Amino acid sequence: MLLWIFCAAYFGVAYGQDVSVFTKGFDNDGHVTKGTIVTYSKDITNFNAKFTNDGKFHVQVPGIYVFQFYALSYTYRNSMKLYRNGMYLVSIYDDEEHKNTDAAGNTVILQLETGDTVYIQATNQFSFPVFGRAAEIYSTFTGGLIFSGRSSASNPVAMTAGLTHDVSLPNGGTVVFNKVFTNLGNGYDSTTGYFVAPTDGVFLIHYFARSQSGHVIFLDLYKNTRYINSAWGQLTHQANAGNSAILDMRTGDTLSIRSRSGDPVALYGRPDAVYCTFSIMKLSEQNTAPSGLHANQIQAFSAVLTKKQNEGRHTTKVVWDKLYSNHGGNFNMSTGIFTASVPGVYIFSYHALSQEGQPMWLELYHNYVYVNSLYGRGHLFSYGSNSAALKLALGDIVYIDMKNHNTRLFGAADEIYGSFSGYLLVPMDGTSIAGR
Ligand SMILES: *[C@@H]1O[C@H](CO)[C@@H](O)[C@H](O)[C@H]1NC(C)=O
Repeated sequence: MLLWIFCAAYFGVAYGQDVSVFTKGFDNDGHVTKGTIVTYSKDITNFNAKFTNDGKFHVQVPGIYVFQFYALSYTYRNSMKLYRNGMYLVSIYDDEEHKNTDAAGNTVILQLETGDTVYIQATNQFSFPVFGRAAEIYSTFTGGLIFSGRSSASNPVAMTAGLTHDVSLPNGGTVVFNKVFTNLGNGYDSTTGYFVAPTDGVFLIHYFARSQSGHVIFLDLYKNTRYINSAWGQLTHQANAGNSAILDMRTGDTLSIRSRSGDPVALYGRPDAVYCTFSIMKLSEQNTAPSGLHANQIQAFSAVLTKKQNEGRHTTKVVWDKLYSNHGGNFNMSTGIFTASVPGVYIFSYHALSQEGQPMWLELYHNYVYVNSLYGRGHLFSYGSNSAALKLALGDIVYIDMKNHNTRLFGAADEIYGSFSGYLLVPMDGTSIAGR
């Protein structure tokens, strides 16, 4: 009986929902040969996600999936591209420049069919080393089934659009992401760059960008006319930046990415080099507990930094000072700790910007166990981000720690770069099966 419960939970039939989710990372140094599929050295999380030895993820359940991938290059260039069935979709490119670093990240949400494959492939131009240590995992690949096509989840809303050409916005203006990869619910308009919520709900937003050489990234996320947060990047060559949020939306509310007026914002894009993306999905009924105390309650939080942190302090959790959402009430503002009240698989994302010329080193922890990191250094403001899927038991905690490295984070009321967001992808609790 116990074995049966274990197997049922493992294969995700708890609650009759489909589960397929993974996070992989480099936990030791790797070498990636040009034009080959990237195979990660560590499985951080894997529930029902089928990978073949060639490094390809195979879809077994049709539905809508989210994929997120990141790289940090210490001494050389990393250039990785995400493919679906041999078709190129989006990229990350990270290069270290005069001891200044930033992290590159990207996200794509896709509607997939059984038998589809998704994988990360190195650029055809050059081979490169990837940095990794057991307690320094920066380069990761996360994927997860958000809405199963087999379930009766109502009206999914999910979109990703990207830039396939250069865009210069020195005087402000909305970024019009021209190439639409996914637009379920038809919320996104690729002629205006605006997303209009087709229904009420809780929405997850990710955006990423890479600048043209010598230009900055200074992008702002707006909900209607309300400022939410920003992405900043600056190197003498090309910079990377991004951010995430989870927000309550009413039907007709808009989301847009705008450039900050007065800064020389110029974004890079090519048909075969899509770094600038805008992704949105509605966290649906499928992401809620089916019964009991938390029935029909979405579990999701999004916390940000509106001021500088860690002036003259060492080794402490990041204490986020403003909440955009806290559905389920499980994120504690005074401690910076998320505590799971619904067991299941969650996806967490975090972003940060260092103070000028200051080092930055953040780590994601699950119950005091290290998961992954972001890192930045140099004489400029350094950007970093990462994500992970984690299976949490009732009462498990998740938080972001500042490594003992004199980390100094930048933030201001109208310049919010630091964020920590998480949501329940699927409830998974073997114990409730026993009663069936
Ligand atoms: C947050 O954590 C603090 C310190 O452990 C505790 O005193 C407080 O009650 C918690 N707040 C909530 C809302 O749980």
